Amino acid sequence: MEKYIRVKDLEDAALAILPKNARDYYTSGATEEYTLAENKRAFQRLRIRPKCLVGLTSYNLSTIVLGEKVSMPVGISPTAMQRMAHPDGETANVRAAQANGVIYTLSTIATSSIEEVAEAAPNAIKWFQLYIFNDRDLTRSLLARAEKAGFKAIVLTVDTPLFGLRTADIRNKFTLPKHLKLANFEGQIATKVNSTNDFSALNNVDHYLDKSLTWNEIKWLKSITKLPIVAKGILRGDDAVRAVEAGCDGILVSNHGARQLDGVPSTIEALPEIVEAVKNYNVEVYLDGGVSTGTDIYKALALGARMVFVGRPALWGLTVGGEAGVDRMLNILRKELKHTVLIAGTPSVTDITKEMVRHESTYSRL
Ligand SMILES: Cc1cc2nc3c(=O)[nH]c(=O)nc-3n(C[C@H](O)[C@H](O)[C@H](O)COP(=O)(O)O)c2cc1C
Repeated sequence: MEKYIRVKDLEDAALAILPKNARDYYTSGATEEYTLAENKRAFQRLRIRPKCLVGLTSYNLSTIVLGEKVSMPVGISPTAMQRMAHPDGETANVRAAQANGVIYTLSTIATSSIEEVAEAAPNAIKWFQLYIFNDRDLTRSLLARAEKAGFKAIVLTVDTPLFGLRTADIRNKFTLPKHLKLANFEGQIATKVNSTNDFSALNNVDHYLDKSLTWNEIKWLKSITKLPIVAKGILRGDDAVRAVEAGCDGILVSNHGARQLDGVPSTIEALPEIVEAVKNYNVEVYLDGGVSTGTDIYKALALGARMVFVGRPALWGLTVGGEAGVDRMLNILRKELKHTVLIAGTPSVTDITKEMVRHESTYSRL
């Protein structure tokens, strides 16, 4: 694994070995993929302003998230169908998270079940990503299973009344390989979803998503679970306020890896508006989308995120080496973050302030 020095090295290696169907599914963003590129570019437009000779004696990457200590402010975002990347899929990914003391978020649309993931890594801090389905019994049973299996929070995806248009998947007539299954639906809508042998496999899940949802539904969710709720997919300050007032404990600033709607802001651009909007509330703000280096993490923390999550980087690690590959990805980020906090002169991740970062335009002489 030592030959992979950057997350980009893992990405290049993964893209070279993944079958086209899976590669396109993992990489694609919505329509023209402008926002997909911006998720990365917007980080590059920010500059870190290091402080020199601050008297470094130690450093600290650990922080507290929803009451749990994590070893660094990086967690794993929910991504669907991880067994296309590696035969052990979600179970390898969660084991790497466990070994690294970071949060793993399991997708509803996973190829390993809630119970398999819990069994694979009983001591990992596990969160469960939920879609609210028209079938409230199905929704309720997923929630109950996650709670029973020891998951610590519910990540409610709020940006998906239906799935975005992903050109390559439409062209490929994307479907889950025959030997895999959407494990959380076994015995439920799975029979219909899993037996369909064309792109409608995903459209079928899409069909079951409750499009009539409003923020009022958070009350219903809170009536059936004691777990904290994180609203995932927020890109506006007013929505962040609605989420908190509805009872959410966390806001995940996310554009779904740019897979939902092209032309929306990159997540690092959207972050300051959201942090500002909820500054007087007791809520944690996180970010995902385009994070692939230690300096990206640092910039997000400086602009007010408590932690970041990574989606595709874990898929690249998983593809290259299963658990060892995800472990490598996390260690690359840990090392880069350590170097960033030390060289920037802010040795503790909880002490990074907004003034450590400036937009490139501040330096322009035009
Ligand atoms: C292949 C793939 C599948 C995804 N599946 C889900 C999902 O099932 N549920 C969800 O809420 N988000 C899903 N997402 C979005 C991720 O949770 C996350 O927001 C995104 O990947 C972050 O961007 P990054 O990949 O640049 O790190 C998916 C993203 C990818 C790339």
